[in-house]
Amino acid sequence: MNRPILVMYFKICGFLGAWTRSKRPQSPLNDADWPANLAIGGGLHYEGHTPGGDSRSLTSERLSMARRKKIYEGKAKTLYEGPEPGTIVQYFKDDATAFNAEKHDIIEGKGVLNNILSEFFMLGLGQIGVPTHFLKRLNMREQLVRSCEIVPLEIIVRNYAAGTLSKRLGIDEGTQLPRPIVEYCYKDDALGDPLVSEEHIAAFGWASQQDMDDILSLALRVNDFLSGVFLAVGIRLVDFKIEIGRVYEGDFQRLVVADEISPDSCRLWDIKTGEKLDKDVFRRDLGSLTDAYSEVARRLGVMPNNPPTPGKPTLVN
Ligand code: C5P
Repeated sequence: MNRPILVMYFKICGFLGAWTRSKRPQSPLNDADWPANLAIGGGLHYEGHTPGGDSRSLTSERLSMARRKKIYEGKAKTLYEGPEPGTIVQYFKDDATAFNAEKHDIIEGKGVLNNILSEFFMLGLGQIGVPTHFLKRLNMREQLVRSCEIVPLEIIVRNYAAGTLSKRLGIDEGTQLPRPIVEYCYKDDALGDPLVSEEHIAAFGWASQQDMDDILSLALRVNDFLSGVFLAVGIRLVDFKIEIGRVYEGDFQRLVVADEISPDSCRLWDIKTGEKLDKDVFRRDLGSLTDAYSEVARRLGVMPNNPPTPGKPTLVN
C-alpha cells in the first residue's frame, strides 16, 4: 500500500472505532456491555431450563464464561470477575451438596431457581433498607453483585429447633424457640464450619465488636423480613443462614448481606402439613428437590413460566 492509501485506511479505522465507541452504552452495569449471549432476553433457548421466555443458551453461557476470569468456585456457585472494578458475576450451579460435601448430586434446574429466589429476597431486603451486595440479575443463572470481603462467619438465625441445634441440645425438631436465636459458625470447610462464640470472634479478630452489633441487627432484620414473607404464603421459616460482606467506600466500610438467600440456606416447612420445602429434601432423601424449590417459587409468585425440568440443554434456533 502506498502512503496516501495507508493514511486513508487509518482514518477510516479511526472513524469506525469512534463511531462504535459512541454507540456503546455508558452505564457500567448495562446489559449491552455484556456479550450478547449474556444480556437478558437473548435469542437462544435451552430446553427444560428456560423459564419465563428469558431465553438463553447454556452452551453460549458456558462459552462466554470461558472468556471471563474465574475468581472462585464454591460448592453451589462460581464467581467470575465482573465487567467493572468492584463487581462480580455470581453463577448458580446445579450442584447440591450436604454434610460438608460428603453427599453430592447434580439437580437440574436448582441453580435457576436459587438465582431467581435469591434475587427476590435481596431486592425485597433492599426495599426495606437492608443493604445487600445484589446489583442485578443478568440471566437465568447469573447475577451481578458488588464485590465484598466476606466476614469468615456463617450467621444462623433459628426460630424453631431443627438440624444441629436439635442434635446438640436434644430439643425436638419443630419446637418453637422462646425467641430467635443467632449462632455463629467459623467458615472453614476443612474444620466443618464449627460453631464459635463471640469470644472466639473477638479474640481471633474475625469481626470487631461494632461489626458484631451490626451483624446481629442485620440478621434479626433479615429474619423479620423473611419470616413475614414466608408466613404470607403459608410457609414457616424454621431457620436460615446468611453471610455478611464488607464493602469499602473510601475510608469507610459498610456491612451488606452477601452470598445468597435461597431454600439451600433456609429451612422452610409448610405451615399446615409440615412438608419440607428446602435442602433437607436432598439431605434426607425426601423426594424431588426441584419440586420443593419450585413450590416455594410458585407461592412467592416468582415461578418461571416454564419450570425447570430435568433434561439435557438443547440449542434451539
Ligand atoms: O445444619 P444446621 O441446623 O446448623 O443449619 C441451620 C441453617 O443454616 C439451615 O437452614 C441450613 O440450611 C443453613 N446452613 C447453610 N449452610 C451451612 C450450614 C447451615 O445454609 N454451611
